[in-house]
Amino acid sequence: MRRFVYCKVVLTTSLVWVLVDVFLLLYFSECNKCDDRKDRSLLPALRAVMSRTHEGPGEMGKAVIIPKEDQEKMKELFKINQFNLMASDMIALNRSLPDVRLDGCKTKVYPDDLPNTSIVIVFHNEAWSTLLRTVHSVINRSPRHLLVEILLVDDASERGRGNFMKLRGAAASRGQVITFLDAHCECTVGWLEPLLARIKEDRKAVVCPIIDVISDETFEYMAGSDMTYGGFNWKLNFRWYPVPQREMDRRKGDRTLPVRTPTMAGGLFSIDRSYFEEIGTYDPGMDIWGGENLEMSFRIWQCGGSLEIVTCSHVGHVFRKATPYSFPGGTGQVINKNNRRLAEVWMDEFKDFFYIISPGVVRVDYGDVSARKALREALQCKPFSWYLENIYPDSQIPRRYYSLGEIRNVETNQCVDNMGRKENEKVGFFNCHGMGGNQVFSYTADKEIRTDDLCLDVSRLNGPVVMLKCHHMKGNQMFEYDAERLTLLHVNSNQCLDMPSEEDKMVPTLRDCNGSRSQQWLLRNMTLSM
Ligand SMILES: *[C@@H]1O[C@H](CO)[C@@H](O)[C@H](O)[C@H]1NC(C)=O
Ligand SMILES: *[C@@H]1O[C@H](CO)[C@@H](O)[C@H](O)[C@H]1NC(C)=O
Ligand SMILES: *[C@@H]1O[C@H](CO)[C@@H](O)[C@H](O)[C@H]1NC(C)=O
Ligand SMILES: *[C@@H]1O[C@H](CO)[C@@H](O)[C@H](O)[C@H]1NC(C)=O
Repeated sequence: MRRFVYCKVVLTTSLVWVLVDVFLLLYFSECNKCDDRKDRSLLPALRAVMSRTHEGPGEMGKAVIIPKEDQEKMKELFKINQFNLMASDMIALNRSLPDVRLDGCKTKVYPDDLPNTSIVIVFHNEAWSTLLRTVHSVINRSPRHLLVEILLVDDASERGRGNFMKLRGAAASRGQVITFLDAHCECTVGWLEPLLARIKEDRKAVVCPIIDVISDETFEYMAGSDMTYGGFNWKLNFRWYPVPQREMDRRKGDRTLPVRTPTMAGGLFSIDRSYFEEIGTYDPGMDIWGGENLEMSFRIWQCGGSLEIVTCSHVGHVFRKATPYSFPGGTGQVINKNNRRLAEVWMDEFKDFFYIISPGVVRVDYGDVSARKALREALQCKPFSWYLENIYPDSQIPRRYYSLGEIRNVETNQCVDNMGRKENEKVGFFNCHGMGGNQVFSYTADKEIRTDDLCLDVSRLNGPVVMLKCHHMKGNQMFEYDAERLTLLHVNSNQCLDMPSEEDKMVPTLRDCNGSRSQQWLLRNMTLSM
C-alpha cells in the first residue's frame, strides 16, 4: 500500500497504559493474511466465489450467504462476537459499498478549510476483521488532510469500560474535532466532510451521521432513513421515532439539511474538541455502557448546544441482538444506575415518569452526582421543561398533564393495566396494586391517555380499547375527562370508557354514556415513596 497514515494505537491493561505509536498501515498490509487466522480453510472457498462472480463476497454491501456445509461452524463462530464472524472474515477489509446518499448530497461542495479530526475507536474483544474494516473504511473514504489520526483504544479490561475509555482516547487525541466511532462500523463515501462542515458553521453543533444497518447475520449493508430521529421512552430507552412535520417545515422540506434530533443513538458522533471539554465530556460516574447517550443529549441541548443528524453522512454499524459483555450485577443494574444519574441531574420533576414506570429502580444506588449538578449550575443550563417544550414537543413524556398514576374504576375498584402488552394489543383491566409499572397512565394536556409511548385508541363504536403508538393527532386517541362526573368521553365516537363486558372480561370498552358507575374513573397523581 502506498498511502500512508500516521496512527496511534493505545493499548491498555487495567493497570498499565502502554502507548505505542505505529504506522498502522504497515501493519494492515499484512492483514489479508492475519485476517483468516481463525480459519484458514475459508480461503479456498473465498477464492472460488471470487473467480465465479468476479467480485468478492460482500462487495457493494451485498449479503454473504454461508454455504450449507459451513452453517454449523458459522453458528459456533457467531457466539464469539454475537455477529456472523465467518461472514465478516470472508469479506475484503476494503470492500466496496453503495453510495446511499440522497442525490442532493452528492453534489454539495464544502469549504476547503474544514477543521481536521481525530477518530477515536474504543474496542473490546473485537473481531479482527470488523475492527480493521472500520479503520480501512475511515482511511479510504476520508480526505487525507482532514484526518489527523485514528486512535484505537483497546479496552483490555474484562468487562469493558466504555465511557472511561472514550475519555482516555479523547484526551490522547490532537485533532480540532473528535469523531467517535464504534469498532464494527463502515464509513461510506463522503461521510466526513458534511460532519466537519456543520461544526465549522457552529462549533456547538454536535453531529451524528445517519447510522446504516450492517446485518449481524449476513453483513449486508442497508441504508438507514433520514426520516427518523432519536427520542426516548419513559424507561429511558433510546428509541427511533419519525421526524415530525415541524422539523421538515423548519428545513423547508430540504432533506439534505441536518435534522435537529432530541437524542443521539450512542457512540457515533463528531464534536469540536474544545466544546467537548467545555460541556463536561462524559459523566465519569456512569459505569460502562448505557444511558450516556441520553445524558449527553440532554446536556448538549439544555446547556446551549445543538444535536443534529447530518443526513448527508452515512456510517454503517453492526447492530447485535445480544451484548457480548458481562456486567457486574447484570446489565439491568448498570443501566438503572446510569439512568438514575441522568434523571437526577437533568430531568427535574419529569424524572417521575421514569421512576413510576420502573418500580424498584428507586432502590438502585446511583452514587454522588454533586459534581454533575455543579456543572449544570456552572453552565447555566435550562430546565428539562424547556427541553420538552422547545426541542422535543412530541416527546413521550408530556410537558403538561392532568395525571400520572392509576386509572381506577369506581364500580369495580379495579385499574386499567397495560399487562406488559405491546403495540396493537388490547389494554387490560386488573386489581389495582398501587405499585406503578403496568398500571401507570398519564392523562395529558393534549387529552391522550398514555402509557409510555403508547396511547389508548378506539376505532369503532362499542369497540375495545387498544394501545397504539401515540400520533399526536387527537382523532381516535382523544378523550375528554370530566372531573366532576368522572367520565372519560371518547370524543370521536361520543361514547364513554366503561368497564369490561361479560364476554371480554379483561378489556375496558366504549359504551353510550348513561351515567352508570362503571363509567366513572378516578385519575390520580401517584406519589413516589422514595
Ligand atoms: C481492495 O484492495 C485490493 C488490494 O489492494 C484491490 O485489488 C481492490 O481493488 C480493493 N478494493 C476496492 C473496493 O477498492
Ligand atoms: C489540524 O488543524 C490545525 C489548524 O489548522 C493545525 O494547526 C494542525 O496542525 C492540524 N493537524 C494536523 C495533524 O494536520
Ligand atoms: C398532577 O401533577 C401535575 C404535574 O405536577 C399537575 O400539573 C396536575 O395538576 C396534578 N393533577 C392533579 C389531579 O392533582
Ligand atoms: C347503562 O347501560 C348499561 C348497559 O348498556 C346498563 O347495564 C346500566 O344499567 C345502565 N346504567 C344506567 C344508570 O342507566
